[in-house]
Amino acid sequence: MEERLQKIISRAGIASRRAAEKIILEGRVTVEGEAVTELGRKCDPDRQVVCVDGRRIGGAERHVYFLLNKPKGYLSTASDEHGRRTVLELLPEVEERVYPVGRLDNNTEGLLLITNDGALMNGLLHPRYEVEKTYVAKVAGNLSEELLDRLRHGVLLEDGMTAPAKVRLLEQGAGISRVELRIHEGRNRQVRRMFSAIGCEVKALKRMAFAGLDLKGVGRGKHRELTAEEVAGLYELAGIGK
Ligand code: URA
Repeated sequence: MEERLQKIISRAGIASRRAAEKIILEGRVTVEGEAVTELGRKCDPDRQVVCVDGRRIGGAERHVYFLLNKPKGYLSTASDEHGRRTVLELLPEVEERVYPVGRLDNNTEGLLLITNDGALMNGLLHPRYEVEKTYVAKVAGNLSEELLDRLRHGVLLEDGMTAPAKVRLLEQGAGISRVELRIHEGRNRQVRRMFSAIGCEVKALKRMAFAGLDLKGVGRGKHRELTAEEVAGLYELAGIGK
């Protein structure tokens, strides 16, 4: 949307409308690289590059998309009032204001998407699109297929029945079972609560895949940018056209 330059500058929080006029008259403002000193010039900061003292203002932020392999001990929030470590500390070079797509518990590790694309984030988290998440849980005890069947059918949690889950016993021994669980819901602490509902304790939990993406090539605590094809795939899953 086109707006007067002094309005764009004041809305960016740099100066009041009056002070913005002074800044323009001083020749400190450029539009598409050209100095503009006349007041009242209109432009669209989302489509044109408007700079004050050489720094872009008011433009739509470039969307960025990262896949992080979250270690234990990091909160999936953008900030924490108690000063605990957050996942954003693992992406120190990212200047955009990004957020995690959903949450992993502090003591859960694995795949977490990080982006500043709010529309995509909402789509991926919306229950309607049934985006699949794959977890591997290390669970105390030797779990029987009959017990796992209960997870497959759905179990009653305090916030209602869970949808049927795809469950595979990966291995078992020394009193520990490794179980793969594929679900499309994203309730708070869902996997831990599902196991708790069948009387089992989760000793460790890792998200291996989310929305068709996995952790291949991304070590613990590391991240990578998504490719354009991957982003396009996410848009499709989230039911939005780009
Ligand atoms: N389920 C859980 O219990 N914890 C997570 O972090 C994710 C899913």
